[in-house]
Amino acid sequence: MTSKHEPQLPLSYSEYLKLNKLLKCQHPISAEAGKTVHDEHLFIITHQAYELWFKQILYEIDSVRSLFSSSCVDEGKTLQIICRLNRIVLILKLLVDQFMILETMTPLDFIDFRGYLSSASGFQSLQFRLIENKLGVKESNRVKYNQQHYLKVFNDEESVQKLQDSLNSPSLFKLVESWLERTPGLEKNGFNFWKKYEEAVDCWLEESIRKPAQKENDPKKREILMMEYAKQKESFDSIFSEELHSKYVERGERNLSHEALQGALIISLYRDEPRFSQPFQIISYLMDIDSLLTKWRYNHVTTVQRMIGSKIGTGGSSGYQYLRSTVSDRYKVFLDLFNLSTFLLPRECIPPLDNQMKRRLNLLYPEDNAVPLEEKMKRVIENDED
Ligand code: HEM
Repeated sequence: MTSKHEPQLPLSYSEYLKLNKLLKCQHPISAEAGKTVHDEHLFIITHQAYELWFKQILYEIDSVRSLFSSSCVDEGKTLQIICRLNRIVLILKLLVDQFMILETMTPLDFIDFRGYLSSASGFQSLQFRLIENKLGVKESNRVKYNQQHYLKVFNDEESVQKLQDSLNSPSLFKLVESWLERTPGLEKNGFNFWKKYEEAVDCWLEESIRKPAQKENDPKKREILMMEYAKQKESFDSIFSEELHSKYVERGERNLSHEALQGALIISLYRDEPRFSQPFQIISYLMDIDSLLTKWRYNHVTTVQRMIGSKIGTGGSSGYQYLRSTVSDRYKVFLDLFNLSTFLLPRECIPPLDNQMKRRLNLLYPEDNAVPLEEKMKRVIENDED
């Protein structure tokens, strides 16, 4: 008897992995043109390896998006989200380093076959655009290339459809934003974190800058301290006022909603509380993804400069200049999470949690926490006797 999971026929390694197909997908055009250039093989393998890993990244992003997409993320699923985000981070680390191998090809070797590439360019990588869109790169933040929209280079129906779908479905950014907006502790009629945080900031600015400034006898030093006070106050006011925050969002300098920003801040400040430690890890991995994509762009443009200097790209862009302008905060999806550090307070100034909030952030059931220890023991003994 064979179970339904057991294959009916013996399956070989190469059949399972379809290696016969996969390993026949490398066709250097220089060889087809009768002028084989040794390094073109490496060029093809490198691009294909990148595209395979892009496929895995997309697979993980899709699964994380679906875990985040319910209106109340099941906390039992947070570990899955963390493991998959970590996997994306590790793949990206590998991809950032992979340019080193391609750089063993010299520019002179590249020139030997570059002409055969005609208009083929990484600019036409569908999966790269899908990664950007599914993460949530803002359309308005993209650097235009030859005044053209990147969508213009995709003509086949399937690619256009996939790109449209990636734009129409909620990005990881949007889903994370809604999740952060629901962070416990933000309720005005409960712990009311924001009010307590505002008071703590006022107190910190007063004690650490304004009072020392007033006590300062040297007018120059006093002036410097007062300028520092005004600068810090202005910076904090920009998050306390929802209206000012919206202006930053309109200008593209911030992305998260006012409420989601509060959620991210409360998680960062109280990350040692059991129910916040996993969300804190999620926030950290999201920043890692942004950082590593920026590093990918940087390593790519460095390779490009080394290979073609300031020649124009095969895709028709200015090449180095265009790519250099994409190594920018405009492409950071979770920019606000990086900027959170501006608004962190020294540990001793962080508002203490009240008992109710402590209980909410504990992993035990709230009722369990409310029960005194002796009562719990009594219940255990009673249950044993039953
Ligand atoms: C010799 C190595 C390489 C050179 C000279 C090169 C050159 C370029 C140039 C000039 C562009 C700008 C568009 C254009 O005008 O063509 C570009 C874009 C791009 N390349 Fe490469 N590239 C190289 C390796 C790679 C590799 C290994 C990948 C991996 C998939 C890659 C992926 C991309 C992507 C995704 C873009 C679009 C970036 C964006 O628009 O933000 N490239 N490349």
